[in-house]
Amino acid sequence: MRVLIYHQDADNWRRILSERLPEAEFIVAAERDNPQADYLVAWKPPANIFDEQRTLQGIVNLGAGVDALLQNPSLPRDIPIVKLRDAGMGELIGDYARYGVMHFQRDFDCYRRQQANREWREQPLIDKPDWGVGVLGLGAIGTRVAQMLAADGYPVHGWSRSPKQIEGISCHHGDAGLDTLLGQVMTLVTLLPDTPATRYLIDRETLAKLPAGASLINPGRGTLIDETALLEALGSGDDETSGRLRGALLDAFPTEPLAAESPLWRHPRILITPHMAGPTPLGAAADQVADALDALSMGKPIATIDPEAGY
Ligand code: GLV
Repeated sequence: MRVLIYHQDADNWRRILSERLPEAEFIVAAERDNPQADYLVAWKPPANIFDEQRTLQGIVNLGAGVDALLQNPSLPRDIPIVKLRDAGMGELIGDYARYGVMHFQRDFDCYRRQQANREWREQPLIDKPDWGVGVLGLGAIGTRVAQMLAADGYPVHGWSRSPKQIEGISCHHGDAGLDTLLGQVMTLVTLLPDTPATRYLIDRETLAKLPAGASLINPGRGTLIDETALLEALGSGDDETSGRLRGALLDAFPTEPLAAESPLWRHPRILITPHMAGPTPLGAAADQVADALDALSMGKPIATIDPEAGY
């Protein structure tokens, strides 16, 4: 089997995948004139790759989100696509979410501002059992994140499109379920895939359903959030009480890198990180990629994405 690899770290992927599947031929994709391959292993491949590659029998997406791949108009519709499932990203994103939840629950945002004013004042503590956390999206990553936050002692509410049952998590689904969840959470963590159904789900109406003083953490996709509504809900002051929404920790943006002129950079109650919440650990991911290539080439059963649903 011949496998074409497209990734910024393709040489490393080639090395690590060759160790796992020594009989396969791995080729690092060049800009053009690549030989015809049986499988493509890629993260955000260039638009023309599917015009060039005519014999592909399957694709392995080197990430959890398939939005970038599905937006390619030349993507063949009749071949299986396998994506990474958790592969170590869940725990990293879980740590990111825990940092964010504690930032707000333990008032580190207030203390940062107080320090700037040399103000020594202890804030009244809201205990973990009274600090509901919502996790939107209960795929492999969302589930792991929800479980980590629940293990920390927060009451965790999860939301997904279809009904789910996860031990220790109050699971909700559908429009009514979303409203129920929003009313009970002090921090909302968004981990939904980018699909037509989730785009700008966090808009003015959704934000208005959160309790006053709630906070938002988005390690998912930038397109989940209506930025104008977010800025409006935050208000303009640097004091935590100046808007309905207390603060936001954002890792993903509709266009990355985030433009220098974006007002998000300058807002005193927005924390910005450069899409670093869940880097893909090579080892765990390589095991999944090797298993996927083995299953695809041997006709063994393997979970593939549903292009219509978008995940
Ligand atoms: C990263 O954003 C991914 O989808 O894996």
